Amino acid sequence: MTVTVKVSTPEETMTIGQQIAPLLAPKDIILLDGDLGAGKTTFTKGLAAGLGIKRNVKSPTFTIIREYQDGRIPLYHMDVYRLEDGSGDELGLEEYFNGDGVSVVEWSKFVADELPADYLRIAFKRLDDLGENQRELTFEPHGERFVAMVKQLQEKRHGK
Ligand SMILES: Nc1ncnc2c1ncn2[C@@H]1O[C@H](COP(=O)(O)OP(=O)(O)OP(=O)(O)O)[C@@H](O)[C@H]1O
Ligand SMILES: [Mg+2]
Repeated sequence: MTVTVKVSTPEETMTIGQQIAPLLAPKDIILLDGDLGAGKTTFTKGLAAGLGIKRNVKSPTFTIIREYQDGRIPLYHMDVYRLEDGSGDELGLEEYFNGDGVSVVEWSKFVADELPADYLRIAFKRLDDLGENQRELTFEPHGERFVAMVKQLQEKRHGK
């Protein structure tokens, strides 16, 4: 099962992140993949707001991991783009994945070997031919919990 959503402003991308936030529980894993500048961090800002996080969410490109503890549950925001080849195992990702918060991982293909079986992957695509702010988000849930989550998100978005 996959669900595709088209958006045409950064605010719309943030709103989807905000809508998913109440559905999240500790140990949930969300993978954000896709082009540079496609909106992965923008989505995470909305998700953080939805968790009640007041701190400004900055891209963890250089720090790899940023933790936010001031929301309903902790947010572990990771961007593994700059990880040296094969050093994923040194990050201690498993501790985050099994921790008390939700893990959001940008560029997850660089830690493909470290990922558990169940997660929600969201693939971001720029639709430059249609305009510079146009994006397509494809939701790919792995595991029953995330299939149910994507269904709930759809119901929310369609006002059911
Ligand atoms: N529909 C949209 N959704 C999200 N961002 C958009 C959209 N339209 C324009 N933008 C702009 O595109 C940029 C997206 O940047 P962002 O840092 O979120 O991307 P990213 O996918 O995290 O990139 P990176 O791979 O470098 O981490 C922002 O400047 C944002 O304002
Ligand atoms: Mg980013």
